[in-house]
Amino acid sequence: MNIRKSILSCGLILSATFSFAQDQQKMDQFIDGLLSKMTVEEKIGQLNLVTGGEATTGSVVSTDVESKIKAGNIGGIFSMSSPAKIRKAQELAVKHSRLGIPIIFGMDVIHGYKTAFPIPLGLAATWDMELIRKTARVSAVEASADGINWTFSPMVDISRDPRWGRISEGSGEDTYLTSRIAREMVLGYQGNDLSQYNTLLACVKHFALYGASEAGRDYQATDMSLHRMYNEYLPPYKAALGAGAMSVMTSFNDINGLPATANRWLLTDLLRNDWGFKGLVVTDYTAVNELIDHGLGDLHEVSALSLQAGVDMDMVGEGFLTTLKKSLTEKRVKEEDINRAVRFVLEAKYRLGLFDDPYRYCDEQRAKREIGKPEHLALAREAATKSFVLLKNEQQTLPLKKTGSIAVIGPLANTGANMPGTWSVSADHANTQTLVEGMREVLGNKVKISTHLGANLTEDAALQERSTMFGRTIPRDTRPESEIIAEALEIANQADVIVAALGESSEMSGESSSRTDLNLPESQSRLLAALVKTGKPLVLVLFTGRPLTLSVEQKAVPAILNVWFGGTETGKAVADVLFGDVNPSGKLPATFPQNVGQIPLYYSQKNTGRPLAEGAWFQKFRSNYLDVSNEPLYPFGFGLSYTTFEYSPIQLSSSSLTRSGQLKVAVDVKNTGNYDGEEVVQLYIRDMVGTITRPVKELKGFQKLMIKKGETKRVEFTIGEADLKFYDLKLNHVAELGAFKVFIGTNSRDLQQADFQLTD
Ligand code: BGC
Repeated sequence: MNIRKSILSCGLILSATFSFAQDQQKMDQFIDGLLSKMTVEEKIGQLNLVTGGEATTGSVVSTDVESKIKAGNIGGIFSMSSPAKIRKAQELAVKHSRLGIPIIFGMDVIHGYKTAFPIPLGLAATWDMELIRKTARVSAVEASADGINWTFSPMVDISRDPRWGRISEGSGEDTYLTSRIAREMVLGYQGNDLSQYNTLLACVKHFALYGASEAGRDYQATDMSLHRMYNEYLPPYKAALGAGAMSVMTSFNDINGLPATANRWLLTDLLRNDWGFKGLVVTDYTAVNELIDHGLGDLHEVSALSLQAGVDMDMVGEGFLTTLKKSLTEKRVKEEDINRAVRFVLEAKYRLGLFDDPYRYCDEQRAKREIGKPEHLALAREAATKSFVLLKNEQQTLPLKKTGSIAVIGPLANTGANMPGTWSVSADHANTQTLVEGMREVLGNKVKISTHLGANLTEDAALQERSTMFGRTIPRDTRPESEIIAEALEIANQADVIVAALGESSEMSGESSSRTDLNLPESQSRLLAALVKTGKPLVLVLFTGRPLTLSVEQKAVPAILNVWFGGTETGKAVADVLFGDVNPSGKLPATFPQNVGQIPLYYSQKNTGRPLAEGAWFQKFRSNYLDVSNEPLYPFGFGLSYTTFEYSPIQLSSSSLTRSGQLKVAVDVKNTGNYDGEEVVQLYIRDMVGTITRPVKELKGFQKLMIKKGETKRVEFTIGEADLKFYDLKLNHVAELGAFKVFIGTNSRDLQQADFQLTD
């Protein structure tokens, strides 16, 4: 479809004809033409990304936005929503700036928009790729209906340190699982054609290695060997780009001595030259300015450094806007670097179809029609139920019967605002049900539900305040703890079953929410101990944005359902699972350690030269701790079901695989319990001998499937040479001949195994 479009220019009408199809040549011609008309100031203006202020994550907030738009000093705005507001801002750019270049509108659409899905770590726990893609699609439909065309997602940072609050925003510890999810999210956001009115430009973040910040402290440095980077941390970014993501956000952290935002090796040698990325590189919030505190120079210096390193767009800090012209005159930067950056900004706008119709995302009727649709809410409910991980279920405490009475006790029982989870700035908090409200809606009059706060989120009022920012309130009871617990026990004692709704508030994870203590806050532990003493059937419904240390709870409580933060429909979804309408199938995307001292603890560790003997937990002069075993509390990939599954031994099509061949690996999985259920069958590989040391296992495949009660399903995987490749010390991507083990099972610990050889 060819469309003629007029753009105001210097009082002249510039006519441009171009196609929606992403025809490189036409795009190049159009952008060359536009670039040739732009002054240096207008070019630098395109590199300036400001915030509309609806959600800010730094102390600096953009000012004087209206006059800057008119002056052509703004290329993009983020954190502004609604067709009316965005139309108004777009009109300023299109009608009042000299060249009428439209603005791109970004937003952190991280796990849903008005309809919130589970936090990304929870979504990862579904291991359901189709579902994850659908959630990204719905996010794009809703956000684009509200005027937005660019999302700062997916966040694909691998993290093996649950102290880091942002582990909640990613897909956990594993390279393969995160890479698969990255791909689905990009495809969900961008669809097949970015110029469609209901797609969003995806932005892969945070490039790179942000999840490996030292000590789990946010914004901290990362220091990592190249082969670990290439084998374990970089693949998810690459996978997202492979799926077509057309923008990348630089990370805040220092990487081996040079912060990502000034790191030319990262942004140009690797991203552009090796990986061939042809999209837009934007910084994180004021990341250019932060290079001053990193110790790289003044604003003038660091802005020039970032541009030369490969940054195209400067988020919020206006270092580019205020210094690049001078740097150009002083020849600190080249005009070709500015042109490169402007070209990528303009290309993003072109791909989104903004030059054709700058108001294509500003249809108020569409916003009314498409935001919060019943089918979106149904998907949110399904996603939530699938994200929950059953950690313990002694004597089939769950599912509960839909009769009698239940006491729902705890600080998370009655807070709607916490249910969507961290980074859900656009979610409709006001109308999000609490856990108790959701349960009541699902159960109607069948079950009598009573409730009580039971304990404060934490004893420390100041910590509670820091942990419930942005309106995520949880009531606080200032009476002595003994009185609060006594009152809760009165209610609990009258009920048949107790549901303890405990854990973190949503803002205890997310950005700038690192923690050093991952136990349940003591006020809540004491409540739980008192509830256990009642001797009633007890279920811990655990809210969390990260792996917690639950050794005490694992011993004391008969049933634990980890529900993360499940999004808008959390309350109903928890009821669906507790009462058996849905059989839980979530599996942990990150290891739950026994205690904080074991961190980093992840399943794909190296063997060491002194591994423990099979079954031993302490041996002198072997690799272990004196006080606790090396084992996690719950391993990666772990999650129970109301039913049970039995795995047959592995059947291999051959004991060897040639480089061009394929090996079929199969197991029979039988549902041996009393419920139909979904199982995630996981395949891991170990390379037994290499030129570098290799992990004791690496996830290389999985299949999620429904197996009916009594039914047996055969699950087959195909392994080829590509699955055995890794980056060697010289960073060659190779598969080395020799012995391998393949494992299949229900989690990364409980596995069947078989051996094969890779041969020429
Ligand atoms: C976060 C990013 C986010 C950006 C814009 C930053 O503080 O690190 O993930 O996209 O703010 O809101």
